[in-house]
This record gives sequence, structure tokens and C-alpha cells, in this order.
Amino acid sequence: MRAGMLRLVPVILFLAACGGAAGTSGSASAGAAPAAARGPSPEELAAIARGDSLFNGGGCQRCHGQKGVGAQNGPSLVAGPWLHVDGSKAQIAALITRGVPREEFKNSERPFAMRPRGGPMNLTDAQVQDLAAYVVSISRAKSAR
Ligand code: HEC
Repeated sequence: MRAGMLRLVPVILFLAACGGAAGTSGSASAGAAPAAARGPSPEELAAIARGDSLFNGGGCQRCHGQKGVGAQNGPSLVAGPWLHVDGSKAQIAALITRGVPREEFKNSERPFAMRPRGGPMNLTDAQVQDLAAYVVSISRAKSAR
């Protein structure tokens, strides 16, 4: 997917820049940089790319909109407050696995339950993890619940 690859380019450039800085720095603090400052690993970037295909090619976008911007039957995963999770990959993966029954909806006017493991997508645990990584990557502007 071309658009998906283009979106990853700045991340890859960012990673390259970090690697260069670490290589030339002789300061004792270089090794103490927090994990978050290093950005996603190549494995995480690959997981995000697989999640992107599942989300935007599969059933998720029908309710949450392309790229998760929100649509009639599902909330935005890009902006606004979290409704059910704290934004962590673990909670998002757990929610995708079990779905959201209608009686738990914050907006009770939405007509369709979010089914466990994507319903007909019948997601494996590995695919759930990839989708959770993707949702984390698009949800940076979301605020705490
Ligand atoms: C049938 C429509 C539908 C489909 C398909 C669907 N969802 Fe949902 N999703 C919802 C609804 C509705 C909610 C809860 C909205 C509410 O509480 O008002 C929700 C909630 C969520 C949340 C929690 C958001 C928050 O703010 O806490 C995540 C994450 C999520 N969905 C991801 C996914 C992923 C990934 C897929 C694809 C596997 C998917 N959804 C498929 C309708 C859907």
C-alpha cells in the first residue's frame, strides 16, 4: 500500500536520525535515554503496517472510518477522549478480542455491537496485536479517559 508506506517515511527518517546521534555521542547519558524517546522498533513498524492493512482493508473501517477518523457507527480512534480504554496497547488488544456489547456503549444511539475479534474477520491473537499497535499509532492525539 503506497499511502501507508509514505506515512512511514518520516518515522524511518526519525529513527535514522536517532541512530546517527547515538553513534556520534560520547556522553555517558546517551545510553540512559528512555525507551519512548527511541521511537518504534522495525518490528513495531512492521506490526503497525500489518494492522493498517487489516484495519483499512477489513471490517474496522466500516464503523470507525478510513484511518479511524470516526464514522456513524463507530467513534474516532484518532482524536477526542478515550471511552473504554486508557490508550495502552494491552487494553486496546483486550477490547478488540472481546468486542463491545451494545449495553456498554457510551453513545447508545449507535446501532451495532462491536463484535469479538472483528466478527467475520475472525482475528488471530497475532492480528489483534497488530491492530492494537496500529490503533496506538493513529491515536497520539487522543486524551485520557
Ligand atoms: C459494528 C461497528 C464496529 C466495528 C466493525 C468495529 N468497531 Fe470498534 N467500536 C465500535 C463501537 C460502537 C465502539 C464503542 C462506542 C461507544 O461506546 O459509544 C467501539 C469501540 C472501539 C474502541 C475503543 C475506543 C475508546 O474510545 O475506548 C477501539 C480501540 C475499537 N473500537 C477498535 C476497533 C477495531 C480495531 C476494529 C476492527 C477489528 C473495530 N473496532 C471494529 C464499533 C465498531
